[in-house]
Amino acid sequence: MDKYYDHIIHGGDYNPDQWIDTKEVWDEDLRLMDLAKINSATVGIFAWSLLEPEEGVFNFPWLNEVMDKLASHGKKVVLATPSGARPPWMAQKYPEVLRVEESGARNEYGVRHNHCPTSPVYREKTARINRRLAERYKGHPALFMWHVSNEYSGECHCELCQKAFRAWLKKEYHNSLDELNFKWWNGFWSHRFTDWDEISSPKYRGENHVPALKLAWRRFVTEQHLSFYRNEIEPLRELTPDVPVTTNMMRLYKGINYHKFAPYVDVVSWDNYPDWTNGDNADPAAETAFVHDVFRSMKDGKPFYLMESTPSIVNHKPVNRLLKSGVQELAAIQAVAHGADSVQYFQWRKSRGGHEKFHGAAVDHVGNENTRVFRDVSRLGGVLERLDAVVGARTEAHAAIVYDWENAWATEFFCGYHNARRDYDKICQSWYRAFLRRGIPVDVIPADRDFSKYGLVAAPFLYLLGDGVADRIKEYVKNGGRFIATYLTGIVDRDDLCFRGGFPGAGLREVFGVWAEETDSLGEGEYNTVSFGGKTYRAENTCDVLHAEGARILSAYETASFYAGSPAVTVNGYGKGYAYYAAFRPEQAFIDDFCGGLIDELGLVPDAPFPLPDGVFARKRGDVLFVMNFSGGERTVALDREYRDVVSGESCGGGTVLPENGYLILA
Ligand code: GAL
Repeated sequence: MDKYYDHIIHGGDYNPDQWIDTKEVWDEDLRLMDLAKINSATVGIFAWSLLEPEEGVFNFPWLNEVMDKLASHGKKVVLATPSGARPPWMAQKYPEVLRVEESGARNEYGVRHNHCPTSPVYREKTARINRRLAERYKGHPALFMWHVSNEYSGECHCELCQKAFRAWLKKEYHNSLDELNFKWWNGFWSHRFTDWDEISSPKYRGENHVPALKLAWRRFVTEQHLSFYRNEIEPLRELTPDVPVTTNMMRLYKGINYHKFAPYVDVVSWDNYPDWTNGDNADPAAETAFVHDVFRSMKDGKPFYLMESTPSIVNHKPVNRLLKSGVQELAAIQAVAHGADSVQYFQWRKSRGGHEKFHGAAVDHVGNENTRVFRDVSRLGGVLERLDAVVGARTEAHAAIVYDWENAWATEFFCGYHNARRDYDKICQSWYRAFLRRGIPVDVIPADRDFSKYGLVAAPFLYLLGDGVADRIKEYVKNGGRFIATYLTGIVDRDDLCFRGGFPGAGLREVFGVWAEETDSLGEGEYNTVSFGGKTYRAENTCDVLHAEGARILSAYETASFYAGSPAVTVNGYGKGYAYYAAFRPEQAFIDDFCGGLIDELGLVPDAPFPLPDGVFARKRGDVLFVMNFSGGERTVALDREYRDVVSGESCGGGTVLPENGYLILA
């Protein structure tokens, strides 16, 4: 199913449990929610100590009341499971539920997200409270979706986790220490293991120089969070099979490979807190667009939920500036344009006490509707009510950027070349940007995804090739695809073992028709120059010294010494397709022009059939076109024909002025 409601969900984290002693606020909340056109509330995320004040003693009357009240106002409840934070009694009685840090010290009770994902006690307790919640609220008219835990993250180094890690390794390496020793290259520094118990998690004061161990540990940590999550959802699936399940993810957080979660959630959801400014927001907008497309692509384009965003400011940046009205509204519209079927906030109402009392909320401490932020939220609510046509709509993309968590890990872990600045995320985002500025929709996919539906795939800095990836690239190009690779591509396998026989390895040397003999790193401010299509560009940071072995040279380095004669940009016809290699880290202008040429050649169709001024981005969902002005100033767009403005209902065409942070939603 692609949609769960006919309207865009407009809501957010709602914590009536914090107001249990001043319950008159609950009725006021409902009055205000109606005013702000809020149709949903996410309830109970951190409510465990009220739900189960003593072990085995459950307290649901307050939640019954909240659910009933919300239902009577037609609100959809995104009901949370409370495992993100636990009651103090639990830690006191079962210390094993608490996390152990690298040093081996067990954390004391406190904060949140501080649990061991392996602990059988914690798994049992979470499954039990979840079962109770599902039993109690199955069939409740307000129950709309499950919000499982909150932002799974972090790692635990306790003995239970170490044991589970070893068991996981045994499975991964076919119960063979010989295989593990070989794949981890343990002859190096005398690291050959003779007993599985000699292996433990990477630690600051222990082993932290074996990339294969670090990769294995991240895979294991992902697996542990995932199996914890699957244990959490078991009772929900059993008792409420028709209620969709999600868990909220955090941007491009590297502790977990989020792609592994995708098959197990019904809806992908994420929490978005970019560094918006009161000026030019083209950079944060481009970065955020990329992240939206990562999450949109996670389930093959199925709409995702924007589970959290702030309606005003946050409290956790070094300086938390107020933003002009319009900035957050535009950010919300951007999410919808990129595939979100919800705009949800952290948080509905500011708490009176605690760590987050100064974090932005729809309702401020003054407690009424007479605030700028409340008016902004209400206005946006009105806009979202007019967007039913986009709910459930997918975006068709004919180009893709490969952004791969495993590769992100591997590029973080290896030692050598440019140790100071690897910037995997930034590099992928700069290739993405070339498409964004032209208004070409792109998917952002992991390397193990099927490439065949795309005319063009760019996989910058694909250093690690997981099992089968090289073969799929080969097949893809052979069958007519166009694949772009850059410097340091195809260097290692899944265990960070270098390929033998020249880079790019695993057979890709033949596909790209090049051999990267050496790789050079350049300091800040240093660069080589490369001419391409009549222009000169800077080649920065990392540059392969390349030999063409059949590939056509599109450009060579204009640098003497060992670069002399080294190709910088090549293309190789392979089967029915073409494999491109850019041997260096380019400045943005090169990427824009290079991709621009391919976009034109392939006839990739932009979402907006009119030119987009700088800082103005466009995205289509279904038949609705969003045009968004992040430039920080006024911009005029030359619309190609008459459109209906979905918000005002009026028609518009020709040169249309977009004010600062303005947008058009066109049908
Ligand atoms: C999120 C978290 C919320 C709240 C918010 C503040 O990461 O899930 O509970 O803390 O940040 O911005």
